[in-house]
Parts: sequence; structure tokens; C-alpha cells
Amino acid sequence: MSERFRIAPSVLSADFARLGEEVRAVEAAGADLIHFDVMDNHYVPNLTVGPLVCAAVRPHVSIPIDVHLMIEPVDRIVADFAEAGANLISFHPEASRHVDRTLSLIRERGCKAGLVFNPATPLAWLDHTLDKVDLVLLMSVNPGFGGQRFIDAVLPKITEARRRIDAAAGGREVWLEVDGGVKVDNIARIATAGADTFVAGSAIFGSKDYAATIREMRAQLARAVRA
Ligand code: DX5
Ligand code: ZN
Repeated sequence: MSERFRIAPSVLSADFARLGEEVRAVEAAGADLIHFDVMDNHYVPNLTVGPLVCAAVRPHVSIPIDVHLMIEPVDRIVADFAEAGANLISFHPEASRHVDRTLSLIRERGCKAGLVFNPATPLAWLDHTLDKVDLVLLMSVNPGFGGQRFIDAVLPKITEARRRIDAAAGGREVWLEVDGGVKVDNIARIATAGADTFVAGSAIFGSKDYAATIREMRAQLARAVRA
């Protein structure tokens, strides 16, 4: 099992009526993180779950909870997610009026802070923020729904983000996560482009055997290392 790569099943494709059981199942299947998609029917045209459900999930798993906020505004809800047991909190910079402040707010609450980039959002948001960023999350679909097709134009953007992280982070660990349309058959290409953390919703929760799917993903990732 590669320590270099992390697999983060997205609860968006889980059975919400059995969420505790579902997150326990993916942890047992070898997941590294639980990816928790928060949508507000305002920043994105869909509505999911908030801090109450995050707190309900927390005691079911020991792996970190990776909260992806697709909400506007951001700041007011940060403390609630930190108290609900989130370990990482990421937000879309254009949804926050004061990006630097929001990054500080997340870190002051003891969580790792992430910036999320839609397919058409420029990486320029990293120019003056990277020293406060623990996670760069690149969307490879437009946010709002699971089960969409991976947008290939994001591959060179992953490589560019990797270059920026390696150049600026100064040895500090900054994760590069990709979210949307990640499957067994494209995960190696995404890793080769520079990603180290992979969100997969429908590919894992839509499969019959979560452990087998995660194992196949890791086998593909092992090949990417050799590339
Ligand atoms: C989309 C969400 C994703 C989604 C990914 O807005 O941020 O995390 O669950 O789902 P798949 O893996 O099915 O594309
Ligand atoms: Zn997500």
C-alpha cells in the first residue's frame, strides 16, 4: 500500500439513510479520508448536509474528515464544522470575501485549510495565499453533482499546481487533491500529472465491493509511480 497517495471516498454517492454504516465500510475497505461534500443551493445548484451530519458521522470513523464547502458565504460555518470533527476544511476562494481571513479562521480552529479551484478558476488565487494553504483541491468537474465525466483539460492544471507547490511550499507538506470523475481507469494519469489525493464518489460507492475498488485504484497508482 502506497503511503504517498490518499484515497478519499465522497459521501455524496453513499446511501444517506445508512451513512454511519457506509463510512465505516469505506474505512474498513482502506480509505484514507472521508470526503464530505457540503452544498447550499446557492453557490452550487444542489443541497446536501451540514455540521450536524458531520458530527453524526465523526464517531463512526477514525480517519480524517475532509470537508469540501461549496457554500457562500463561508466564514460563519467554519467553527461549526471544526466542532463537528472536521480535520480539513476547503472552500472556493471566490465564495469568500476575505480569503486570507478565511484561511486563518480554519487554521485557528485546528483544521488544515484548503482552497478549491473549479475547472475554469485560475491558480492565481495561490499567488498570495500558499503559505497558509495545506491542501489545494482541483475540481475536475463543475461542482454540484456526483457522477460527472472527468474534464481532461484539468490535467495540465494539476501539473502546474504541483510545480507551484513544489516551488513555494519550501518542504512543507501541501496536499494536491483532485475531485470529480476519478475512476480506476484514469487515476494513474491523474497521479502522473501530479496529484497525491483522490476523491472518488460514484466510483467507490457505486461499486459492489468497496475494498476491491480501492485495491484496484492503489494498483493503478503503483503503476503511476513507476511511470
Ligand atoms: C462534486 C463533488 C464531488 C463528487 C465527486 O461537486 O465535489 O466530491 O462527489 O463525485 P464523482 O467521484 O462521482 O465524480
Ligand atoms: Zn467534493
